[in-house]
Amino acid sequence: MFKLLGLAGSLRRASMSKAIVQTLAEKAPADVEVTLFDLADIPMYNQDLEADLPAPVRALRDAVAASDGLIVVSPEYNHGMSGVIKNAIDWVSRPGYASVLVNKGVAIITTSESPLGGARAQADLHTMFLSCLARIALGREVSIGGTQKCVVDGRLVDETQIRRAMTLVDAMLDEICLVQGRAKRG
Ligand SMILES: Cc1cc2nc3c(=O)[nH]c(=O)nc-3n(C[C@H](O)[C@H](O)[C@H](O)COP(=O)(O)O)c2cc1C
Repeated sequence: MFKLLGLAGSLRRASMSKAIVQTLAEKAPADVEVTLFDLADIPMYNQDLEADLPAPVRALRDAVAASDGLIVVSPEYNHGMSGVIKNAIDWVSRPGYASVLVNKGVAIITTSESPLGGARAQADLHTMFLSCLARIALGREVSIGGTQKCVVDGRLVDETQIRRAMTLVDAMLDEICLVQGRAKRG
């Protein structure tokens, strides 16, 4: 089994980002389990708290450590990633260059109501995860635009976007196999 952790960069109940994680969890192949981690209780990063981590931060770090890879779905906010996702990754990224993110597979997906689908936030997320020495899944960029049309009743319904996202997740699973020395999936 591959254990993937889903992180959505939006806290609101009707979030398109959460809907996309949920859809990918349901569409995942039988050997892949995707769990959405709710970031609502993660406080703002404070280095003073590193010695005695707040419980939700400890839970997040443990969940990332226990996972084989991350599916990160972030909305674009003001031409960058959302503060929710940046803050969560700042917590998880310590200690620098020796955190649970080192060699962790990451599939990056952005969302927006605009046709660009958060393409500018993509670049932002790539830069951040590179700095954490994570293994960013390589493939066609998955920036899901027009979310007010392609997310219906809390699920992504656009088959092309679902296929693209799943192709990126597959690329991450291949990378995980390489890093962990597992046999490539059939
Ligand atoms: C504070 C804020 C800033 C935003 N900035 C951008 C932006 O720069 N580019 C863009 O395409 N959409 C922008 N949007 C629209 C969001 O990307 C869009 O509403 C997205 O669906 C929100 O994600 P969610 O549905 O997961 O909450 C912004 C929305 C908010 C609330």
